[in-house]
Amino acid sequence: MLANQRSTSGVKGGSGIRAMFELGTQYRKEGKQPIDLSIGNPDIRPPEIYYSTLSDIIASRHSSSDNMHKYMPNAGYLDTREVVARDLEPRLGSSFSAADIVMTAGAANALDVSLMTIIEPGVQDEVIVVAPCFVEYQNYIENNRGRQVLVHASIDFDLDLDALESAITSRTRALIINSPNNPTGRIYSEETLRALGDLLDRKNQEYGIEIIVLEDAPYDRLVFGSVRYESLMMWYRGTIYLTSFSKSLGLAGERIGYLAMHPQIGQDDETRQIFRAALGTNLRTRVVNAPGLQQKVIAKIGLNQSIPVGEYESRVNRLADTLESLGFPLVRPQGAFYLFPQLPDRFASEEAFRALAHSGEDPLLYTPGRFFGGMEYDRYIRLAACASSADVERGCEKLKRIANAP
Ligand SMILES: Cc1ncc(COP(=O)(O)O)c(C=O)c1O
Repeated sequence: MLANQRSTSGVKGGSGIRAMFELGTQYRKEGKQPIDLSIGNPDIRPPEIYYSTLSDIIASRHSSSDNMHKYMPNAGYLDTREVVARDLEPRLGSSFSAADIVMTAGAANALDVSLMTIIEPGVQDEVIVVAPCFVEYQNYIENNRGRQVLVHASIDFDLDLDALESAITSRTRALIINSPNNPTGRIYSEETLRALGDLLDRKNQEYGIEIIVLEDAPYDRLVFGSVRYESLMMWYRGTIYLTSFSKSLGLAGERIGYLAMHPQIGQDDETRQIFRAALGTNLRTRVVNAPGLQQKVIAKIGLNQSIPVGEYESRVNRLADTLESLGFPLVRPQGAFYLFPQLPDRFASEEAFRALAHSGEDPLLYTPGRFFGGMEYDRYIRLAACASSADVERGCEKLKRIANAP
């Protein structure tokens, strides 16, 4: 065996999302035209200001005496972190400085490096994850030799504070929350987050621990209608907010994001400084630093640019209306670009639904719900509305045919 056991079982256990991707390729080879709503790959291109800023930066190489591609501090360029700190303050309601910001290779890297810094390897440190959830959390936790503890959300996908309270033990080191949520599109309210902050303060006291909350927010710009994104930052000192430009600017392949820690994280200045330095050191052993050219763009355009969010909103709404009209129980998404409907009773199982979805010349690809937290979600499916409008439209037509099949 070349790959170790963990890696081998990771490959064999496979990701349902990857399996769908491969199936799509196979269907195309067979001459079919799959409708791929399985993968969360952003369809909308970055705004024009991204490209013009990138061009200006590249053009500036002629006038600069410096090599702009040199090594930099692991946490990222100071001017980029200053801009992030400045633009984040009105959003999250905390006064950040550049020292609270670490530029990362996306939210994934921010999660990994935070967990690497928090978890004591191999001593069964626990990280609570709210399900249904992003499939990769378990890998990030286990790569850093921690133990994932799943806590299910309430029936309408809000945080279940009683269930969270029961799951917290003296071994709890971190909690991952994700709002707007993948796969449900749920956004946690200020009221819920305030109550969560109170609960965590109480539990920290009870066990003499300090739970860090990783507030995973790569979709926080993708918010629909009058709903606002709310952060735990205002209500809990142990918060690390982490995000990326993968969805807000359509830059998933460029791997650029950042984390912001609560300015008063930790018991005292010394703990705080060690924690900040450890994040930088750990980033060095993973990716060294976040991509430099992308950081330079962010330093110039700041955090207030975004793709036209309404485009995703209308694709989500189109699918949501169709699903509801066909009798699929659905908690309507408030943000992000996914839908997580339940299958109507008339389908005996997800496999029975899949047989119909994959039939014909236009197989509909989606991700089975169980990949987002186990068999509890076996009668759910995730549809990604970040495909093209044309594919979303084809998806709606296909859903109608599946629902009306004899
Ligand atoms: C909930 C969630 N967290 C994190 C990530 C990782 O995103 P990034 O591209 O910022 O690393 C994703 C990607 O789809 C996601 O859905």
